[in-house]
Amino acid sequence: MKRVFSGVQPTGNIHLGNYLGALKQFVELQNDHECIYCIVDEHAITVPQDPKELRKHILDVAALYIAIGIDPKKSIIFVQSQVSGHAELGWVLCCNSYTGELSRMTQFKAKSGGKESVGTGLLTYPVLMAADILLYDTDVVPVGNDQKQHIELTRDIAIRVNNKYGKTFVVPDGRFMKAGARIMALDDPETKMSKSAENIHSRISLLDEDSKIKKSIMRATTDSDGEIRFDPVNKPGVSNLLNIYSALTGKSVDEILAGQNWRGYGDLKKELVAVTQEALAPIKQNYEEIRESEELIRILKDGAERANAIAEPVMKRVRDKFGLGL
Ligand code: AMP
Ligand code: TRP
Repeated sequence: MKRVFSGVQPTGNIHLGNYLGALKQFVELQNDHECIYCIVDEHAITVPQDPKELRKHILDVAALYIAIGIDPKKSIIFVQSQVSGHAELGWVLCCNSYTGELSRMTQFKAKSGGKESVGTGLLTYPVLMAADILLYDTDVVPVGNDQKQHIELTRDIAIRVNNKYGKTFVVPDGRFMKAGARIMALDDPETKMSKSAENIHSRISLLDEDSKIKKSIMRATTDSDGEIRFDPVNKPGVSNLLNIYSALTGKSVDEILAGQNWRGYGDLKKELVAVTQEALAPIKQNYEEIRESEELIRILKDGAERANAIAEPVMKRVRDKFGLGL
């Protein structure tokens, strides 16, 4: 069985983009893969965090993982900082990566641009991500499109180390969704949907109430020509709505359009509201049940133990290859 690893930052506002680009794949993969799903709290602290909020968000994401259908009996769910190999391997890989390649990362440029002082953690963020992945001899990494460059870097580092020290790491592949890989902001379809955008109507969070879902979709930016067709370049707003519709229902855009007689954007939006509300209802219900249960902590502790059991032999292999320790 191939091994899958992925992670999500515990930073609140998990949205439809996270779900359709990444989380939905997590669930699909668990039947025929050995899956490890991480809550990457060490990545979260590359920008300032309130400690109380961070702890809360760790449990929020853990509960969401289970609420969307990740089964802790099949998959490993754990918190990154509970397995020390991530930070340890992160350092080893820092010593095998270049500031040049790291400063070329789009995400680094976006997060550091215009700032007077830039935290080192923002620069080395993708090296820690490479460590997450390589620590488990991962074959497949399900993520959204925005992580493509980080996956490429992970592969580069793995190949570099393998060439220099002999076969040490499995070289992983990214896995991207056809429809959901890049969900755009509802208020500005030229930018991706994000957790941190100021306008709450730019995104749909997985736990949004029905009334909020309706408001955000009904006011989504479209265009003025009134024609419903899929054309991301000239009609990014409408295309984004069709894309979300497609990703939520599993139908292709052609299939969706063939079966409809919508008279305008309003009709498309109304139906998308219903489709979204229906998709999120069971997630919200499951979430409420799990979030407050004591079971959650037990699942995360058990997950960390199982993760560590896989990571430790890989770490030993790395120490041996590099001549670290005794
Ligand atoms: P993050 O919230 O940055 O930890 O992202 C968690 C996962 O969601 C990653 O696999 C991202 O690639 C994915 N993701 C984030 N934003 C989007 C988006 N707008 N569309 C599709 N996937 C996304
Ligand atoms: N960088 C990813 C993001 O922002 C989160 C992440 C951290 C990750 N480590 C990972 C994703 C390992 C996949 C595999 O979305």
